[in-house]
Amino acid sequence: MSIQLNSINCFYGVHQALFDIQLNCPAGETLVLLGPSGAGKSSLLRVLNLLEMPRSGTLQIAGNTFDFTRKPDEKAVRELRQNVGMVFQQYNLWPHRTVLDNLLEAPIRVLGLTKDVAMQRAQKLLTRLRLTDYADRFPLHLSGGQQQRVAIARALMMEPQVLLFDEPTAALDPEITAQIVSIIRELAGTGITQVIVTHEVEVARKTASRVVYMENGRIVEQGDASIFAQPQTKEFASYLSH
Ligand SMILES: Nc1ncnc2c1ncn2[C@@H]1O[C@H](COP(=O)(O)OP(=O)(O)OP(=O)(O)O)[C@@H](O)[C@H]1O
Ligand SMILES: [Mg+2]
Repeated sequence: MSIQLNSINCFYGVHQALFDIQLNCPAGETLVLLGPSGAGKSSLLRVLNLLEMPRSGTLQIAGNTFDFTRKPDEKAVRELRQNVGMVFQQYNLWPHRTVLDNLLEAPIRVLGLTKDVAMQRAQKLLTRLRLTDYADRFPLHLSGGQQQRVAIARALMMEPQVLLFDEPTAALDPEITAQIVSIIRELAGTGITQVIVTHEVEVARKTASRVVYMENGRIVEQGDASIFAQPQTKEFASYLSH
């Protein structure tokens, strides 16, 4: 189940943030979006779960196709949100709920899982993300790296086909960044498709199987991870050399 974008144009009011985006990402890949501040990376990521609604173009993702010249079907949007998970930079955890309750809430309410089934899922993910000791804590009593792992676990509770990350290692120290990198690599082995926005070229090199480089709302270069060693445009080469 690949991700395909065709001729996507996206605006904030009169300001155009994305221009004629063509992108193709086969299922199971880890796609990294790179580019300077304001390039449109977050906007493109948010289009993938329709937090931003493009003005024109088509998006194919997780089994649904959207043509933005028409108003998207609400049921299809709901389905997309279940299949495409998002890990936000600010984690967006519920502060008044424990780690465990943060994990249980959506699968029970949205997917209709029983508490037992959701609990089993949660225990597995807490183990996988090395969070078992923190299940009963509140998010604000955790470090940034721990909160980030909870945010990843919470997104995985929905068993999404695609997982989106906006700057997952911003504000984390090198050791915690390495932990997040290893979690992303581990997830890549499970067949999930990941799309990651980052400023950190090292994080990109260590995780990406595919790369998209953007400037000024346009894709300047895209390819597999070999373009880190052999950039095809002077813009990407120059970005990598800084
Ligand atoms: N909610 C918004 N309203 C108006 N303009 C916006 C909004 N969000 C982003 N923009 C503009 O759209 C352009 C792309 O922004 P975007 O956040 O996608 O860039 P980015 O590549 O993620 O940058 P950064 O690396 O700083 O996070 C920028 O010019 C930005 O100012
Ligand atoms: Mg951004």
